[in-house]
Formats: sequence, C-alpha cells, structure tokens
Amino acid sequence: MKKNASVFFCQECGYESAKWLGQCPACHEWNTFAEEPKVSTSRGKMASSGRRSEAKEPVSLKHIDSDSQDRISTGMAELDQVLGGGIVPGSLVLVGGDPGIGKSTLLLQVCRNLADRLEQVLYISGEESLQQIKLRAVRIGEFSDSLKLLCETNLSDIEAVVLKNRPQVVIIDSIQTMFQEEISSAPGSVSQVREATGVLMRLAKEQNIAIFIVGHVTKEGTVAGPRVLEHMVDTVLYFEGDRHASYRILRGVKNRFGSTNEIGVFEMTDTGLREVANPSEYMLSGKPEGASGSVVVCMMEGTRPMLLEVQALVCRTNFGLPRRTAAGMDYNRLNLLMAVLEKRLNLPLSSYDAYVNIAGGVRLSEPALDLGLVLAIISSYRDVPIPDKTLVFGEVGLSGEVRAVGMSQQRVQEAKRLGFDRIILPKSSLSQMKSITGIRLEGVSTVRDAMEVLG
Ligand code: TYD
Ligand code: MG
Repeated sequence: MKKNASVFFCQECGYESAKWLGQCPACHEWNTFAEEPKVSTSRGKMASSGRRSEAKEPVSLKHIDSDSQDRISTGMAELDQVLGGGIVPGSLVLVGGDPGIGKSTLLLQVCRNLADRLEQVLYISGEESLQQIKLRAVRIGEFSDSLKLLCETNLSDIEAVVLKNRPQVVIIDSIQTMFQEEISSAPGSVSQVREATGVLMRLAKEQNIAIFIVGHVTKEGTVAGPRVLEHMVDTVLYFEGDRHASYRILRGVKNRFGSTNEIGVFEMTDTGLREVANPSEYMLSGKPEGASGSVVVCMMEGTRPMLLEVQALVCRTNFGLPRRTAAGMDYNRLNLLMAVLEKRLNLPLSSYDAYVNIAGGVRLSEPALDLGLVLAIISSYRDVPIPDKTLVFGEVGLSGEVRAVGMSQQRVQEAKRLGFDRIILPKSSLSQMKSITGIRLEGVSTVRDAMEVLG
C-alpha cells in the first residue's frame, strides 16, 4: 500500500494532521492548515546522527559545574534585564515580532556591542544582501573587525561555517528564510522551520554557542508562526510596539534562564534603537496640563512600574447608538466601566459617545487601569480637569467598588520619583503600604468616593 506522501500542518502552532482540517484542534485557529510533503526517513536519520552514540552517565546535581553559566552582557542594560542578566552561552533565543519592528536593527546593535569584547560574532542574514546590512550598520555606528557577516540560507552550509569559525554568538535572520535540502517543502513552512530550529538547537548545545533566531510573526500566508518553535528554544522574546510610534517594548515570554516578568523599553531613532531607562518620563512627556479627560495611571510591566496617560473624550451622541472606541485597551472593558458609571453614579452615559486612548500607543490589560479610566471619563463628561501631579490606580468592580491591586508600594514609589504629590488608590491597598513622606495617599472604596475626592 502506498503511504501518504504529504501531511497537513497548522501554520500557527505546528499541529500535524493526516488530513486537512478547517479548525486546528490544538490552537483553535481557523484556516491555518497547509499541505506539506511528508518528511522522509532522512529526518529520522538526521536526528540520530546528531546524537552521540556512546551512552551517557547520569550525573548528580552536586557535581554539575555552574560556572559555565557565566553570562555575556549584550552591552544594552534593557536587553540584559529581559534575558535575565545577559546571554547564556549555548542558549537558543528566539526574537519574534512583526516585520519592520526593528528586530534586525536590535540584533545588529547587539552584535556591535559584542564584537568589541568577543573574538567572533557571526551575523547570518537570509533576508538582506551584504550591502543592505552595511547601509543599516552605517546608521548605527562603528563596528569592530570581529563581527563577521554571511548571506546564506542553506542550513548545512551555515552549520559548516559555524563549525569552522567557532563564533561565540550567532544571529540567524530569519528562521523563515532558512532551509534544508533534505526537506522538500518551501522555506518558512512548518517542517522547514522546525527542522532548522532543531539543527540550530543541537549546534548551540554541542558547541556552546549562543544563537539568536529572528522569527517574523504572521497570521496568514505561508510563513510559519514562531509559535511553532516557542517550545523548542530556551528563551522567547517578543519585540512589540506600534510601527508608527517610536517606542518599542521587548518582552520575555519564555525564559529558561530567568524570569519572564521583565520588559525592556527602546526608542527607534534615526541612528538605531536607543534604550529608554526611564519609560515613565518618556511616556508622560507631552501630557497636556489642565486638560479634562486626562489622567495618569500606573501599570506594572512585570516588576517594573510605568506611568502612562489615559485620555478620554466624552461628548453627546448625534445618533441613537453611542459610539465608543478604545485604543490601547479592551473595548468590552470600556463598555463595562461605562455601564457601571451609568448605574452607580446615575450618569446618563448611554447618550454620550466615548473615545478612549492610551497615549503612546501602549496596550494595557491590567485591571489597575480601571479607576484611572473611570476618572478620565468622569473628568471629560463634566469637563473638569484632574489636578496635575495626581496618580490614580485601582480595579473597579461591577457594584462600583474599588478593589485592591498588587504592588501598590512600587507604583507609589515610581510616582514619587517623578514628582507626583497625590495618589488616589484603593482603600484596601493602603493597609499593606509603608508610609512614604511627601506624598498624599487617598484611599477610596467606591467610584463615588473617588469622584468626591476630586471635588
Ligand atoms: P528592521 O530592523 O529592518 O525590522 P525587522 O528586522 O524587524 O523587520 O527595522 C526596520 C525599521 O526601522 C525601518 O522601518 C527603518 C527603521 N530604522 C530607523 O528608524 N532607524 C535606524 O537607524 C534603522 C537602522 C532602522
Ligand atoms: Mg529584518
């Protein structure tokens, strides 16, 4: 009997199926299945050739040398922090993000910093020509000689070059352009991406080389989503941000060598990416003074507090159905909070349009945003500005109660650092806090209290 010559893969998560399916049973995405030729037995052969034949002995934990975990600093404090303190030799790091967000720029800058200290750093590009990389590099600055460039997409050739040159750090830009001759499907397909990552993983572990892989995030098309490889690599970082705004956030999604609670903030300038050590200051620059509907809130990005401005514009609706838009936050949450205000404070908001925006193009999902958002809406509705130097945070429940949120102390400290003198926060959070001088803490237990605090 003839065996099936092809299999179907979900391009999002890599789920494998013998027949085409409309919806992926694993990630529940629709229309993501694509047919790919079945990887022949060479796959099995390759996997076993990578393994050493001699049997390994189990080792007791005590005898494992942890010194080999010495980290290499990337020269960018923000990136080091996200990596958990620097690059771990022998680790495989996936840097994902939308096309054009700045992944190549970030990694080229890392290469520049590393090349000053390491003997050899290898940047392999399958997307750009040497001239294009050079043009980018000219914008970024001076490079030392230990940075080597290579334009190549054939993985076997790449492997040979790496084994010959033995660099300490290798960048692969991008995984979706890499291919192996043994596999007949196109570069970027699930089998190619998976197999390529497997080869790189083995290379990283056996040669103790740190490898960064760039992966484009795409929802449709033939390019496999990096989620396929998330579980294979040691560390997954996502580079996010609005393409039209200049700031970028590097977020750790998975990290076998550190916490995933860290973010790094960067700004895209005409000379490459610049680290933003003080994101709050950066985000609040340009906040209008004395304008109604503008409130400063404090969000936690991992362990890092960040002050942001929330803006609301509430005006009478011209149609029967009020218009609402929420940029940077959940639309349903906005509707819910407006319903709470309507019911608990008797504000006739159902005949008002509301437009809400988080300045800077950041996306927030933390419930601590609620109280700030509610006050921004009230402030715009009544056209009364919220006093300057006032910070608001707290979660709002369906009965209009203000609930405690975590890490209040850090939020207040960040506000103090930036010269805020008044904080409106959940009353129940007050009890867990140590007193801080020079700042007025006003605990509220309902939305009505908060409104009264503002007068
Ligand atoms: P790039 O690193 O090529 O993105 P990716 O590899 O994620 O696809 O970034 C490209 C964008 O960054 C491009 O729109 C131009 C912009 N850019 C700057 O604004 N300043 C610079 O110094 C550089 C190198 C790029
Ligand atoms: Mg690129």
